[in-house]
Amino acid sequence: MIGSKFIVANFKMNKTVHEAEEFLKNLVLNGKKWNLEVIICPTFLCLERALNICHKSGIKIGAQNCYFEKNGAFTGEVSAFMLSSVGAEYVILGHSERRTYFFETDDIINKKVISALENNLKPIICVGETEFERENGTEKEKIKSQIDFALKGAEPEQLDKVIIAYEPIWAIGTGKVVDYDDARKMFLFIKNHLVFRYGKNLADKIKLLYGGSINENNVKELLGIENIDGGLIGGASLDFSRFMSILNQAENSDKGE
Ligand code: PGA
Repeated sequence: MIGSKFIVANFKMNKTVHEAEEFLKNLVLNGKKWNLEVIICPTFLCLERALNICHKSGIKIGAQNCYFEKNGAFTGEVSAFMLSSVGAEYVILGHSERRTYFFETDDIINKKVISALENNLKPIICVGETEFERENGTEKEKIKSQIDFALKGAEPEQLDKVIIAYEPIWAIGTGKVVDYDDARKMFLFIKNHLVFRYGKNLADKIKLLYGGSINENNVKELLGIENIDGGLIGGASLDFSRFMSILNQAENSDKGE
């Protein structure tokens, strides 16, 4: 899988268990072994069924959130330990919707990242600036601080499990895609920062994804940008034929066709 791109589908609070099941069965029935790391993140309710359906298909399953305590009196929460015990491999953490609607702070996200890593889950850590921050030229500072906070206390040998998804908040679900040259600069900035913090060898183990209004028409170009290892896809992942088209385009993103 080294060198191949990552495509993460974030279903968010969409698709019932039955709908997600149908989607995944279709994906598996398609039978193609993608030269991609395909990761589907459905609702918690569907994780076990999703894992059963995708077993042996090469398609990986992730959750959209977790709590940092292992167990206890935390009504309504699901721990990293529990996710790991059903066989989930990935977990999305720090999504801007969690930060905004559920008041997740950098500190909470850091605890979740550490808990995920301790429980052998691969965290997909979302970072991103608001439109206001971009207009004020503070986007790089924001991204740097979110990354540093999220990774506080992570051990060097855990870094190969870490994925960072840069998702400008103004691009999520809006149809506004980042300017490709701005994306190139931002990913170079992130890469340089990681190299500065951890050295090149370790920094190269951390995968970097772009997210925000990816679709079948822009995925190939976005994934062709230097230092972008894949994409985190919300809206366009919900429709089976659009998602298949995204996978096909993503597979060819290195070929410059
Ligand atoms: P979008 O969502 O593709 O619908 O913009 C991406 C995300 O929120 O992860």
